[in-house]
Amino acid sequence: MTTLTPLQVLDAAGQGTELPLPTELARLYGSCRLPLRAERPYVMGNFVTTLDGVVSLNIPGQAGGGEISGFNTHDRMVMGLLRAAADAVVVGAGTLRAVPHHVWTAGYVYPPLADAYRELRNALGYTEPPLSVIVTSRGELDLSLPVFQAGEAPVLVVTTDRGADLLKQRPLPPGVAVVAGVSEGRLTASAVLDAVQRVRQVGVILVEGGPHLMGDFFAEQRLDELFFTLAPQIAGRDKTTERPGLVEGRTFAPDKPLWGALVDIRRAGEHLFLRYAFPTAHQ
Ligand SMILES: NC(=O)c1ccc[n+]([C@@H]2O[C@H](COP(=O)([O-])OP(=O)(O)OC[C@H]3O[C@@H](n4cnc5c(N)ncnc54)[C@H](OP(=O)(O)O)[C@@H]3O)[C@@H](O)[C@H]2O)c1
Repeated sequence: MTTLTPLQVLDAAGQGTELPLPTELARLYGSCRLPLRAERPYVMGNFVTTLDGVVSLNIPGQAGGGEISGFNTHDRMVMGLLRAAADAVVVGAGTLRAVPHHVWTAGYVYPPLADAYRELRNALGYTEPPLSVIVTSRGELDLSLPVFQAGEAPVLVVTTDRGADLLKQRPLPPGVAVVAGVSEGRLTASAVLDAVQRVRQVGVILVEGGPHLMGDFFAEQRLDELFFTLAPQIAGRDKTTERPGLVEGRTFAPDKPLWGALVDIRRAGEHLFLRYAFPTAHQ
C-alpha cells in the first residue's frame, strides 16, 4: 500500500491487451494496454529525461536516473509496473557501472508496491522475476555486485567471445549465465534479442538503456515503444562533463529521422509520462 496519488490520464490511445493490474496498481496507473503480438516479442524502452534532454548528470555517485527525475515516486511506480510486466529487463554495462548497487526488479525500484507487482506477475503467469540482461563487449564486470550476488532475479550476460572467456575465468554466481552473441565488437540489438530468446521464451522485453544501447535498438528499429518520463528540470551542460541524451553514438536526423507517434499522456504534478510508438523493422 502507498500514499501515492493516481496518475492523471490526459490521453490514453494505446491499444492492445489490457494488463490484469491488481487494484492498487490500477488505482495509481489507470488501465495499461500493451500491443502484444504472438509472432515476436514486444520491445519497450523506458527512460527519464530533463526538459533539456539530459539523461545522466554523469557525476560519480550522481549518475543515475534518480537525479534526473528528482527521485520521483511516480516515475519509480511506473518503472516497477513495466518491470513487473516484462519477461526480461535489458541494460548496458555502462548503466550497471553508473548504478552498481541496483537490482533490476520491480520491487527493488518501488518497494511499497512489491506485493502488487508480484500479484501482477502471478496473474501474467510468470513464475520468477524478469531476467536481468547485461550487455557488454568487454565483459569486464564486477561479479561481486548485488545484481549478480543477491539472487533477486536470474541474470544473463550477453557479450563477445572474448568477454565470455574473461567472465568464465572466475566461478559464476548461481543464477548467472553468460552467452556470446558475437565474436568481437558491439552486439547488434537483434543479437541481444536472439540471445535472450535462446534462454527464455519471451513475450515482453524492457530495455532500460543506457543511451549507447538505446542507440543500437533505435538504429535497427527494434524498439516498438518508448515510455518516456519528462522531468521538469533544466540540468544544463558545459564543457567540463559530457551529459548524455536518450541516444548516444548514433545519428538519425536529417538523413533517417525517427518519428514517434504519441500514444499515451499521463501526468503527476509537474512530471509528464508519455508513450511513443515507433515503426519497427518488422512493419
Ligand atoms: N535517465 C534514464 O532513464 C537512464 C536510463 C539508463 C541509463 N542512464 C544513464 O546513462 C549513463 C550510461 O550511459 P551509457 O551510454 O554508457 O550506457 P550503456 O549503453 O548502458 O553503456 C554502454 C556500455 O554498455 C555496453 N554496451 C552497450 N551497448 C552495447 C552493444 N550493443 N554491444 C556491446 N556492448 C554494449 C558496453 O559495455 P563494455 O564497455 O563493458 O563493453 C558499453 O561501453 C549512466 O549514467 C546511466 O545512469 C539513464
